[in-house]
Amino acid sequence: MTLAEAVRIPATPDTRPSPHHASRVLWVRHWTDQLFSFALERPETFRFRSGEFVMIGLPGEDGTRPILRAYSIASPAWADELEFFSIKVESGPLTSRLQHIQPGDTVLLGKKPTGTLVLDALRPGRRLFLIGTGTGLAPWLSVARDPEAHDRFETIAVIHSVRRTADLAYRDLLAHGIFDDPLIGEASVGRLTYYPTVTREPFVRQGRITERIESGDFFRDLGLPPGFDPEQDRLMLCGSMAMIRDVAAILERQGLSEGSNAAPGDFVLERAFVG
Ligand code: A2P
Repeated sequence: MTLAEAVRIPATPDTRPSPHHASRVLWVRHWTDQLFSFALERPETFRFRSGEFVMIGLPGEDGTRPILRAYSIASPAWADELEFFSIKVESGPLTSRLQHIQPGDTVLLGKKPTGTLVLDALRPGRRLFLIGTGTGLAPWLSVARDPEAHDRFETIAVIHSVRRTADLAYRDLLAHGIFDDPLIGEASVGRLTYYPTVTREPFVRQGRITERIESGDFFRDLGLPPGFDPEQDRLMLCGSMAMIRDVAAILERQGLSEGSNAAPGDFVLERAFVG
């Protein structure tokens, strides 16, 4: 008898309501061999604020417990479908399987979206900077497509830092397509900036976002005075833990303070799902 068999508890019918929706896959798009996006049908009762995350998963194999991970919702709060941006990890318990989903399959979707990368966790300001590495771009696809973000801020910059140019998923959308969005529209031309950087191969803007901020290139590129201004600049950070730690340290040195839903501040942060 294996240990697992020895500790197995006799099955009793579980009458609790399921904590997940089983939601249909609408489309899948593979960007590279390590990145893909997909969309799920949005259940009628599913409400969320732009920038929040939710648990996504698949049933366990052979009746084992489902495998779920937190994913930022890449759709804005008004959207009919729920879009997600994911890495593919061959040895990852979830993404090794999730990367093979097809339209029509079902995926488990948590019922309680939550998170701090929301407009309500920031104090009012004039300029919003959304800084993400890798799949940490996902919440910005939600926030930057939400008309409320454009009402609250005069300018929005979406900063995406990746290793290779091919990792700049959503580049066309953020550079051009978003201006055709009827809810964002032409009024945001000149107010919404897409700022990609690539760290491991030649690119028009090369280098880590931390280096570009500290050298002042970041502010020069955007036509801004050097440094973040605690009076008017607000930021959201998502992606690698190291990037978040280092950018947060720069912001704190410049006098900005971290916020939360309970106590809005100058910047908010969340690590992107990595395994
Ligand atoms: P780099 O290529 O110099 O490591 P990852 O794929 O490892 O999550 O990284 C995504 C992007 O985040 C990469 O471009 C990486 O740069 C960058 N990055 C990693 N750590 C930091 C950090 N501490 N500060 C700024 N950027 C970082």
